[in-house]
Amino acid sequence: MKQPTETVDMKAFEERVEAIRKTFPGGRTAILPSLLAAQETFGYVTPESLDVMERVLGIPRGILKEVGSFYHFIDFEFKGRHRVYVCTNLSCLLNGAQALVDALREELGVEEDQVTPDGALSFRTVECIGLCDRAPAALVDEEQLGPLTPEALIQRVRELRKDGQGT
Ligand code: FES
Repeated sequence: MKQPTETVDMKAFEERVEAIRKTFPGGRTAILPSLLAAQETFGYVTPESLDVMERVLGIPRGILKEVGSFYHFIDFEFKGRHRVYVCTNLSCLLNGAQALVDALREELGVEEDQVTPDGALSFRTVECIGLCDRAPAALVDEEQLGPLTPEALIQRVRELRKDGQGT
């Protein structure tokens, strides 16, 4: 996952938002793709990226944040270099999602949405991620995992930290 915020990224990001604005003329339909572009570019929607979106799209940041706050996968603050999203909808819950959450809490030593002290990880419970046939399921960044055991999930989390991606 990318890290914030270098000048060169801001220029490229502005060009990307401009391209999105042209693809989705008429204003507000450009909000979500622009927020996702910021998330992908910087790891979260930074204040600087909101400045760019306000200017290029002509939409106040209050509205940008209001739209973004509706989605689990858009953040307005740093949430770690890696993120774990555990589905706690019905299929996953019935197949052991709570044990995944408990294991993460114990392994990472943080609560949901808190970042580990080394900045490596955070976790969040989310609604259905479309992997019901693989319940209990989770995403680690964009990697789809399931059916998961607590042990398998913790192993994946440890791999991320051990191989240097998470340190
Ligand atoms: S209920 Fe968990 S992926 Fe659908």
